[in-house]
Amino acid sequence: MTNKKSSFDREYKRYKDKIEKTLVEICDGCINMPTILVDAIKYSILSGGKRLRPILCLATVQMLGGTLSKRVIKLACIIEIIHCFSLVHDDLPCMDDDDYRRGKLSTHKLFGEAMGVLAGDAILNLAYEIGISLALENKNIALAVQFISANAGGMGLVGGQVEDIRLEDTKDSGQLEYIYLCKTAAMFCASFASAALAIGAKSVIKSKLDKLGSCFGYAFQIKDDLDEYYNGGISQKSKDKMTVVSVYGDKRAHELLNEQIQECIKILDELNESFDTSFLRQIVNKLK
Ligand code: IPE
Ligand code: IPE
Ligand code: MG
Ligand code: MG
Repeated sequence: MTNKKSSFDREYKRYKDKIEKTLVEICDGCINMPTILVDAIKYSILSGGKRLRPILCLATVQMLGGTLSKRVIKLACIIEIIHCFSLVHDDLPCMDDDDYRRGKLSTHKLFGEAMGVLAGDAILNLAYEIGISLALENKNIALAVQFISANAGGMGLVGGQVEDIRLEDTKDSGQLEYIYLCKTAAMFCASFASAALAIGAKSVIKSKLDKLGSCFGYAFQIKDDLDEYYNGGISQKSKDKMTVVSVYGDKRAHELLNEQIQECIKILDELNESFDTSFLRQIVNKLK
């Protein structure tokens, strides 16, 4: 047995370390707030997520030939912070009612329901405070922040969450696709395409990366549902939800997952004519 890390693992860790360090700095900047709120914010943000979305953003910036400046790292952190907000609210009793997140008690379970709502509010505002500060310094970053916020809002993540809650007793493949593309894939579109916007890449590249985010995010949510179906460990409310497994069954869900992975590979093949897509390719293959 070898404990040598693969070059992929090393690269993933290199990006992750940058994100973690900046998230700690951002959280340490949370002063002049009630102590319980600071505690709930830190608990929700610094709690051991995979940091996949910001890592995809940084890896895409590098793939396109951009530099991992402090500004770009903060931009990637905004995506993660919005993701953390969405998880805090997603676990609330009025939403999925999940007691655990990232292997620990969910924020509302530890701090109380009202604090779960308010910590989520503060976390989302924190993301935009940073985003606006960055936007004031650089027009391309402003466009990236605008794109991230559009994907996080009613046309993206929040809109998807609304339909996820409203349609939980239905079994409609069209609605299911809409929900997955909005609640999950939109933030992956933000991860890939904000990288292109931030470095001023051509719009055709941004469009391809946006499409990659849709396929990747759709696949990611299918895989999350399949993992939950096989491994369990979710709340009763989550069990009652419309998922790709409840609509299609697990066999067809696997096929759909593979179709989305193939779509990702197709886009990466196109991008490969101009860029080194190997890191993104390896992440896509981990969805298998
Ligand atoms: C969880 O996302 C929410 C889904 C969209 C399925 P992740 O699996 O990326 O969660 P963390 O951030 O690593 O905990
Ligand atoms: C997560 O969807 C999507 C979010 C925007 C938070 P789920 O509700 O399916 O994700 P988990 O299983 O709680 O992580
Ligand atoms: Mg949910
Ligand atoms: Mg949930």
